[in-house]
Amino acid sequence: MSRILFACSEAHPLIKTGGLADVSGSLPPVLQALGDDVRLVLPAYRQVLQRLPQLPVAAELNLPGSAAPVRILEATLPQTDVTVWLVDAPAYFDRDGGPYLGPDGHDWPDNAARYTLFARAVVELAQDRAGLAWRPDVVHCNDWQTGLVPALLAQEPQRPGTVFTIHNMAYQGLFTRAVFDTLNLPEGLWHMEAMEFYSQFNFLKGGLVFSDWITTVSPTYAQEIRMPAFGYGLEGVLNHRAARLRGILNGVDYAIWDPAHDPLIPHHFGPTRPAGKKKNKAVLQQQFGLVAEAATPLVGLVGRMVEQKGIDLVLDALPALLEQHPLQLAVVGTGTAAFEQAFRDLAAHYPQRVGLFIGYDEGHAHLVEAGADIFLMPSRFEPCGLNQIYSLRYGTVPVVRRTGGLADTVVHADAATLADGSATGFSFEAADSAALGETLQQALELYGQPPRWRRLMVSGMRQDFSWEQSARHYQELYRQTGQ
Ligand code: ADP
Ligand code: GLC
Repeated sequence: MSRILFACSEAHPLIKTGGLADVSGSLPPVLQALGDDVRLVLPAYRQVLQRLPQLPVAAELNLPGSAAPVRILEATLPQTDVTVWLVDAPAYFDRDGGPYLGPDGHDWPDNAARYTLFARAVVELAQDRAGLAWRPDVVHCNDWQTGLVPALLAQEPQRPGTVFTIHNMAYQGLFTRAVFDTLNLPEGLWHMEAMEFYSQFNFLKGGLVFSDWITTVSPTYAQEIRMPAFGYGLEGVLNHRAARLRGILNGVDYAIWDPAHDPLIPHHFGPTRPAGKKKNKAVLQQQFGLVAEAATPLVGLVGRMVEQKGIDLVLDALPALLEQHPLQLAVVGTGTAAFEQAFRDLAAHYPQRVGLFIGYDEGHAHLVEAGADIFLMPSRFEPCGLNQIYSLRYGTVPVVRRTGGLADTVVHADAATLADGSATGFSFEAADSAALGETLQQALELYGQPPRWRRLMVSGMRQDFSWEQSARHYQELYRQTGQ
């Protein structure tokens, strides 16, 4: 058994902007079930405090960067037995807006100070200096917001082991020298072998340089990020540390994402009970203002509307596809203003065929998974991707780009894989709208052959991406950390 302090900037169901929250909300309870003693540490954002009011104060810390003492509030991750420590620094976290962006959609101007304070609090907890009488064996950090933690721990003569998981290389937490000067960090961190990066301060680099193990969330992405196209300038560091880099595929929490018992969908279904899926499709069509046509293929898309997700490829490919095929589209997402507007225009041009929900809403996300026939995820890069794995379970055949975790989770349907029953979806290589269009057409052709389509759906629904195997890989690494 190990004691694990799991540090992250979001965790479902307390606060979520994307897949990191799904992972942080589901891996710790599985580790705990496998025998580890896990504590989650998270900033006490306003949304979290609203959800969990009146929490007891477990500790108070005096930290540089905060005039008032920083309180550690204690809670339990809902529906689990995992303790959550919330770093309560109201000046930094108790505000309207998202965890990283203000209500205007721009990064909070004090993000460097916010996540420096958070990292300092994590270090105090990790060193058992908060008076909580609990010393972790390993601190497991996630993404740039926790990148300073391994760097600060490396300065301690005695410290726990460190694992740093990259969920996305594209977000590095880059700040100017002037900002660095305001953070009161050790000057030694401003060094090219530490966290200096082409004259900027790079939080992610702290995790890559100083942690005992670096992991990322799929085996393919672990290879890709060692190349310039995916490493964004940090490929050299990653190659240097290649012996300490592993790809561990994310798991899925089927307590939340399984159509057999999902409370957010109107009709339950499964591989041996297919009827509910058709009923969900009718509900989806009705709620998204689409014509009620049971046989028309319905394509779903859920996700952040950003360049990563290949949204531009979708927007390029769709007009021709909508002209050539009797298909419908249901989209749920939020992101770049230009992409949001382009989808609004498309929906206005094809009323009753393109249904749109701009915003963040879990009920809508689950309904699209449950009611659509095909799920589109043509990401330019994808560290793991969870929506395609959810889609498999919901019988919503994924059409994906063959990159990162998408390549590791979807088996392309060709003559051989269809014949041996291993096919679970469709994938294509080139990041262009022509390749997307051709592949979607292949999917539509197979959709027109119901017995073969059904076989493909069912082999996807029977895939098992539950956490246990991946959690055991993390446990192996935990055992190999430390000095
Ligand atoms: P990423 O973390 O890059 O956004 P993932 O596929 O790993 O991509 O995870 C995305 C998660 O966020 C999924 O649980 C998905 O359902 C959810 N999600 C994304 N956009 C929305 C939205 N607009 N409304 C509700 N849930 C969303
Ligand atoms: C990131 C990635 C996504 C991954 C998620 C959870 O947000 O973009 O691919 O699934 O983290 O690891």
